[in-house]
Amino acid sequence: MSDHRSLEASDPEVYQAIAGERQRQNQAIELIASENFVSQAVLEAAGSVMTNKYAEGYPGRRYYGGCEFVDIAERLAIDRAKELFGAEHVNVQPHSGTQANMAVYFSCLEPGDTLMGMDLSSGGHLTHGHPLSYSGRDFEVVAYGVDRETEVIDYEEVSRMADEHQPKLIVCGASAYSRSIDFERFKSIADRVGALLMADIAHIAGLVAAGFHPSPLPHCDFVTTTTHKTRRGPRGGLVVCNEEFAKRVDRAVFPGIQGGPLRHIIAALAVALREALGESFKVYQGQLIRNASAMADRLTEHGFRIVAGGTDNHLFLMDVSASGLTGKQAQIALEGAGITVNKNTIPYDPNPPLVASGIRIGTPAVTSREMKEPEMGAIADLIALVLQQPEDEGVREKVRAQVQDLCTRFPLYGPAA
Ligand SMILES: Cc1ncc(COP(=O)(O)O)c(C=O)c1O
Repeated sequence: MSDHRSLEASDPEVYQAIAGERQRQNQAIELIASENFVSQAVLEAAGSVMTNKYAEGYPGRRYYGGCEFVDIAERLAIDRAKELFGAEHVNVQPHSGTQANMAVYFSCLEPGDTLMGMDLSSGGHLTHGHPLSYSGRDFEVVAYGVDRETEVIDYEEVSRMADEHQPKLIVCGASAYSRSIDFERFKSIADRVGALLMADIAHIAGLVAAGFHPSPLPHCDFVTTTTHKTRRGPRGGLVVCNEEFAKRVDRAVFPGIQGGPLRHIIAALAVALREALGESFKVYQGQLIRNASAMADRLTEHGFRIVAGGTDNHLFLMDVSASGLTGKQAQIALEGAGITVNKNTIPYDPNPPLVASGIRIGTPAVTSREMKEPEMGAIADLIALVLQQPEDEGVREKVRAQVQDLCTRFPLYGPAA
């Protein structure tokens, strides 16, 4: 090879961008509910020579030669995912959660079929039938939401809508929903109207794997998830199903919607799945739920309204409108103080998604830094301080210093890029 130089020497601009991102991750309080920090071993596998390999097809049935080592990694990922979720069949090739959902839809729906999913503004995901996503373009979509008063899923209403619209597939699961999801109830609704049922557990997959959220597996025809978020793996997606749908799902992933799988990511996923089978993963999942509750409780004490009255999982939505702020303003003020969150619509939000009336707060990343309840209380106090005086640069500076102190006490990655 002609160029053996390091990244730093061969491309200082990209090197500096990566170094900057590493420093940002090290020095900020990361509360974006869909983000997490992977282990050094996962990072190493994701940055490995596996990225060079083409391997269309499945282990033992590839279109290319030289696949013996990528086959080992993919088989390990499949076997470990089966063990973790207690699954009959797993496809680990989807490049992301969006592709995992697409693979399921393509395996069981025809264009024009009716898909019933949770509304984005109630906490659902774009791929659950939003008009701007492929899922809202190719299928007839019926969207259910949450009850205006309780802000939790109204299963009676879901049932009524299913009766009325007779969907072919019902999707349950969410991106911004803090309460447990009753998969058994969804199953009884799906069975009554003869619909298939898919659970998208992208957010709660780690909790499900560790036994802190009821599993959708006994009830659903398909389960999809991202492999990052609470699962704490590399960015990717996977589909779980019974043998009955295995061939259709595999064909939908390849050659249906994807070409060559991301070999380096599948190797990194295998590493992350092994980590998830260990006892410390269970301890981590338990802690991240306690952390989310502790932070929501302290913010409530500060007078903020938590959507749906609290959380059963790793995230919650906080309504910031009573402080005279939009979600966008709150996000900007907190970012200036070294605390990263995302603006988020709250149920029946009068503001559009890019403005929003709330912020979404999640604890996967801070829990990976081994922070616990006392630190959650301290972070909640800092959030309250900033949001009470969002324009005050003196307050931000003071908070930034305390954020630095916390980050130094709970170190993340070393200095190298
Ligand atoms: C519930 C849910 N499904 C699917 C996705 C899509 O995942 P990805 O961003 O990997 O395509 C997300 C991402 O936030 C999600 O929250």
